[in-house]
Amino acid sequence: MKTIFVVGAGFMGSGIAQVCAQSGYEVFLMDVNQQALDRALEGIRWSVGKFSTKGFIKEPPEIVVQRIVTATNLEKSAAADWVIEAAIEDEALKLKIFRELDQLAPVHTPLATNTSSIPITRIARVTKNPNRVLGLHFFGPVPFMGLVEVIKGEKTSSEIFDLGVDFVQSLGKKPVKVRKDIPGFVMNRIFSAAFKECVELVNEGIVSPEDIDLGMRLGYGWNVGPFEIADNAGLDTFVRVGESMRALGEEHLVVTSDLLQSMVQEGRLGKKTGRGFYRYTQDGKKRKD
Ligand SMILES: NC(=O)c1ccc[n+]([C@@H]2O[C@H](COP(=O)([O-])OP(=O)(O)OC[C@H]3O[C@@H](n4cnc5c(N)ncnc54)[C@H](O)[C@@H]3O)[C@@H](O)[C@H]2O)c1
Repeated sequence: MKTIFVVGAGFMGSGIAQVCAQSGYEVFLMDVNQQALDRALEGIRWSVGKFSTKGFIKEPPEIVVQRIVTATNLEKSAAADWVIEAAIEDEALKLKIFRELDQLAPVHTPLATNTSSIPITRIARVTKNPNRVLGLHFFGPVPFMGLVEVIKGEKTSSEIFDLGVDFVQSLGKKPVKVRKDIPGFVMNRIFSAAFKECVELVNEGIVSPEDIDLGMRLGYGWNVGPFEIADNAGLDTFVRVGESMRALGEEHLVVTSDLLQSMVQEGRLGKKTGRGFYRYTQDGKKRKD
């Protein structure tokens, strides 16, 4: 069975590790922070248990979870058939990780990044073989969302791009194929444009986040409102992605008010801290009070 090496065990990395294990892959889940690894494994155990109770997975949950082995450095990427990087959205950090992965991972192994904003070509540039670098942009929460953007950098080979499409399908997800490498790719650019307007409308006191979410659900058929999406994703990640988009010259897609920054400074990061635009119970349900 093939082995997937996932870098970063936060919201996205833990979800990616879970769906890979559920699809029968052996997984190394790596993070520099042992607490993040412990939290990720605990969350995965809980989530796989729920999936099993609901009959969404056929295997015993412990078999699925046993496929995931944790690591605190990149060395085991030497045994990987796929590498997926999902560390924080920080270009310098991602470049450092890819420089190391390029040395460690076998030459045939595709190196994917889950970046939300940074062009694949910029990341691939630090590797000796940019042909094998591509974007696999998962959506969160990964175990529930059916979409992955597959992004072709300027130098990504057609073979690696096609392998990416096949790999995404092997996880039970549908690929959106992005054939030209631009900051924020496709889905994030569209969401960012909408979310920027949503935040400005709330910031000017015109409407509440609750009413925008209701409006987008009932008026436009979204399953989840934009503020619910932001709370799920983590407002700290939103701010980082915004900073990255600004640095890449895409200011027009970035929220201009400092509402998000001030929420992050107050520790209101979204679902993960129990409060963002909404308040949450300990098991992540929206509070009614
Ligand atoms: N949150 C979302 O909805 C979402 C959706 C799509 C893509 N992304 C992208 O996925 C990536 C991860 O986002 P997230 O929401 O999981 O963030 P997160 O903050 O939940 O997790 C990031 C993890 O990276 C770890 N990390 C930091 N430095 C590291 C290093 N040197 N090596 C390995 N791990 C390291 C951190 O300890 C943390 O556990 C980002 O690039 C983000 O833009 C996020």
